[in-house]
Amino acid sequence: MAIRIDGRKISGIIKDEVRDSVEKLRKEGVEITLAVVQVGEDPASTVYVGNKKKACAYTGINSRAYNLPESVTEAELLALIDELNGDESVNGILVQLPLPPHISESRVIKAISPLKDVDGFHVQSAGALMTGEPGFLPCTPAGVIELIKRTGVDITGKECVVIGRSNIVGKPMAMLLLRENGTVTVCHSKTKNLREVAKRADILVVAIGRPKFIDASYVKEGAVVIDVGIHRNEGGKLCGDVDFDSVEPKAYAITPVPGGVGPMTIAMLMKNCVAAYRLQKSI
Ligand code: GUN
Repeated sequence: MAIRIDGRKISGIIKDEVRDSVEKLRKEGVEITLAVVQVGEDPASTVYVGNKKKACAYTGINSRAYNLPESVTEAELLALIDELNGDESVNGILVQLPLPPHISESRVIKAISPLKDVDGFHVQSAGALMTGEPGFLPCTPAGVIELIKRTGVDITGKECVVIGRSNIVGKPMAMLLLRENGTVTVCHSKTKNLREVAKRADILVVAIGRPKFIDASYVKEGAVVIDVGIHRNEGGKLCGDVDFDSVEPKAYAITPVPGGVGPMTIAMLMKNCVAAYRLQKSI
């Protein structure tokens, strides 16, 4: 039986650590504030934003909500970001994605001050990750590293295979594994012999966006398997990119869906809000 990596438990521990740091800072007279910007009323975004506000309340971080109508112009949104960039009482700025099609996500993300980019999506944050400069780590891949380390797995020298090359998961994931001294391979839709490459992995991180795509035939005996995918099937049940029932007997450790990577993203966002204060103070 593989170890089931409990993302709910580990994210709870991280949120408690953040709560302790926030409490200490409050005793020194420091408050941490996250500005959460939502455009329109996409139901999934409303749920995500609600969960972020709840995590702020739990950890003692102030959350300031900005709900803009779907019809807001890009210029109006950029003006709000400009105002938040200049507001010293705001430590982090989060613009919930996706944005309506008439607004450029890339221009909006680039408008956020790199000192307040708690999502870690700004090109400067990506560059800092690549070069080892101080900066924000994107929350989902940073959460994956925490899951691996807090399961007691040392990444140094391990064969790490990442399936997926998105800017917010696959690419930063590869960089973080490399930073932890892993030997890293990135696979994608054009990879030849995906099964053979995946099977080399001591640590396999799957972010391909296809339900239950990775079965036991892609996995080496004793591998650590991290599933970043989340899908809802016709019956309304959640599943990941990994066929859990097939892979679990072969793995050393595996994340379930739900309750694996998902809860880590918000915990790492909370951690980034405290990191934001420290980054802003050191500059
Ligand atoms: N939409 C889906 N996931 C995310 C996220 O992590 N951050 C933001 N800003 N928007 C999202």
